[in-house]
Amino acid sequence: MEKLLHIIATPRGGQSRTLKVSQAFQEELKTRFPEMKITELNLFEETPPELTLKTVNGKYVLLTGKDLNPEQKRDWGKIEKYINNFLAHDAYLISCPMWNFSIPYPLKNYIDVIVQPRYTFRYTDKGIEGLAKGKKMVVVTTRGGDYSPQSPAHAYDLQEPYLRTVFGLIGVTDITFINAQPLDALGEDVCREKIQKAQALAKSLAQKI
Ligand SMILES: Cc1cc2nc3c(=O)[nH]c(=O)nc-3n(C[C@H](O)[C@H](O)[C@H](O)COP(=O)(O)O)c2cc1C
Repeated sequence: MEKLLHIIATPRGGQSRTLKVSQAFQEELKTRFPEMKITELNLFEETPPELTLKTVNGKYVLLTGKDLNPEQKRDWGKIEKYINNFLAHDAYLISCPMWNFSIPYPLKNYIDVIVQPRYTFRYTDKGIEGLAKGKKMVVVTTRGGDYSPQSPAHAYDLQEPYLRTVFGLIGVTDITFINAQPLDALGEDVCREKIQKAQALAKSLAQKI
């Protein structure tokens, strides 16, 4: 791993529990790979372009195997910037609290921007082929409730399955999740204990990834 893109999907900065866990992962990683370049993309501070009629029409042009015309190309400039930045990294860390059983909307918007035909996936005779292969991803999530496999609310976890599916589509299949939960439902002591447990897990993952 040489270049890590840290995608931040919480607005809470220093108050964020998700970032506390991600921080532990990064600290350990920096010890192991001092040369590694870590770039932050804070989706609550920097907003990728929202898709418009023009850019969505451009997506359909690409889906049918045609090229964008010069005007469509111009509109795609900002989208290409985010795709190229994503593809320029060989590893990703996503810091993502659960919001309404899924992901915060700025991360969804980012995904809608970078998941594009001919850039990050393509259709073949054998089905969809992801074009972002051979990359590693770590996703740190925190949740107010408990959605672990043994919990009754497990089926409501639409966050991990969604992220695995959508990044799998573009070829990122080596994904490790660190889910800290429940952080709100059982009080402060449990919250502290779960964060410490997740930080320890994050450090041990950084030692072997
Ligand atoms: C808008 C919003 C929606 C949330 N939805 C859920 C949810 O569906 N399930 C859950 O367990 N926690 C939910 N939470 C709680 C957060 O996942 C939890 O507090 C998390 O640790 C916040 O992460 P942060 O401190 O990094 O921002 C929600 C919080 C917010 C602000």
